[in-house]
Amino acid sequence: MDTTQRVLVLPQEPIGTINPYLHGHFAEHLGELVYPGVWVGEDSPIPNTGGIRNDVVDALRPLEIPVLRWPGGCFADTYHWRDGIGPREKRPMRINVHWGMAEEANQFGTHEFVAFCRALGAEPYFAANIGSSAPEEMRDWIEYCNFAGNSTLAGERRANGAAEPFHVQHWGVGNENWGCGGNMSPEEYAAAFARFRTFVFPYSGTPLDGIACGPNGPDWRWTRRVLETLGPGRRRLMKGFAAHYYCGTAGTATEYTEAQWLELLAKAAAMEGMVIGHRAVMDEFDPERKIGLIFDEWGAWHPVEPGKPRGGLYQQNTVRDACVAALTLDVFHNHADKLYMANVAQLINVLQSLLLVEEDRCLKTPTYHVFDLYRPHKGARAVRLISEAETVSDGGAARDQCRACYLDKRPFALRAVQGSASVRDGKLCVTAVNSHPTQAVELELEVRQARLETLEVVTLAADDIHAHNTFARPDVVRLSKPATVQADGPRVRVPLPPGGVVRLRGPLG
Ligand code: AHR
Repeated sequence: MDTTQRVLVLPQEPIGTINPYLHGHFAEHLGELVYPGVWVGEDSPIPNTGGIRNDVVDALRPLEIPVLRWPGGCFADTYHWRDGIGPREKRPMRINVHWGMAEEANQFGTHEFVAFCRALGAEPYFAANIGSSAPEEMRDWIEYCNFAGNSTLAGERRANGAAEPFHVQHWGVGNENWGCGGNMSPEEYAAAFARFRTFVFPYSGTPLDGIACGPNGPDWRWTRRVLETLGPGRRRLMKGFAAHYYCGTAGTATEYTEAQWLELLAKAAAMEGMVIGHRAVMDEFDPERKIGLIFDEWGAWHPVEPGKPRGGLYQQNTVRDACVAALTLDVFHNHADKLYMANVAQLINVLQSLLLVEEDRCLKTPTYHVFDLYRPHKGARAVRLISEAETVSDGGAARDQCRACYLDKRPFALRAVQGSASVRDGKLCVTAVNSHPTQAVELELEVRQARLETLEVVTLAADDIHAHNTFARPDVVRLSKPATVQADGPRVRVPLPPGGVVRLRGPLG
């Protein structure tokens, strides 16, 4: 492979504003995420504010998390919100049937979750139970959360300590209702969505987001049949259509060959096929693009870490996962005109997490650092970026999955360098990934019909493709200190180590 790999940015070709919600997160009652990842209780020796860990809030707050989805996942369609309100000592003990039959003492409920969101500065996104409840339950939850006036439910919220409404804007109508959320057919789900969504009343006057359950990966049929069955009138009830795509694994979280490295990154980059395919089907039914495409679960899913319970989905997180996150966020930015929200799975101790927490210790994973590095894209205007870099994988061992990811069966290609670009206030931000596991490259970035000056460069990279952070060595993988590089007219060259992720920022002349 050539050492120089080219990327072209076209500032005159805007795509759309990158909705900050594309950098959203997800926290399910699963394994060690909520307990003890977020909630330790007021009497815990672990420093906390009202029961919520201070170290976790301190670590997450700088990310400016825009939106946080809760309480599931599969857990959502078994969750009854009334279990999680009122005096904590009186709350019922339930069983988390999807996740290891774990005890669920309901110490972390609606009020605690909203307090956590407020501590982070994030908007709450509730996934409501439609699989094992009646519409009344969702309707009541919304009134309890959002009504400012005089009603028994609003009064109950006040009695439980919240004088002001929570103003929860985003309401998921079920989760994976093609599977754990009720094993419904697309037609059954369309009917359930319309029925439940009818009772999502805007108690504060502002219309709420009704978010429908979308497909699993490349299930084009689900997308088509749900939208077709709803018809034009009932489709208007839908603000977003929420797909899930997990790129899975290759090897284990920390043990993999160079071929497996490429296999996982190819499967992650195949997210682009999912977006292109589902948005094409959606365009047939919604040509004005009123319905936003959402990926409210995405990420790597490795075998559970040895010694951890199988139902807890605890996994380590390496520089390879950092590349998964970066490639995926770049795809999202490049489709900013259609995507409304995305939520990586999950926030702490579960799947592709941002933090790992154990007793009184908390560390930032490589995935955390990617969200940190990519922050300037949020709310900026995405512009076209074309990678002219060589292909490093045609999908390899993941070829079937990568092919299936394109509705039109176009050939799949993972390029040595791919990325995304955005502009805000005359400043360009470009992020890019070197997907090659062993070869360093020189990234040549060119902007068309514009000039660059001095750029700030920040990199995430490591000497070993298996590098990750542990409680003994929490800073093995972290962001470099910002450096500056001088452009030559429209062009700039920066070294990009193997498996490295880079951000360049500077004025656009
Ligand atoms: O994120 C873990 C699980 O993956 C979620 O509960 C479910 O929605 C998906 O299958």
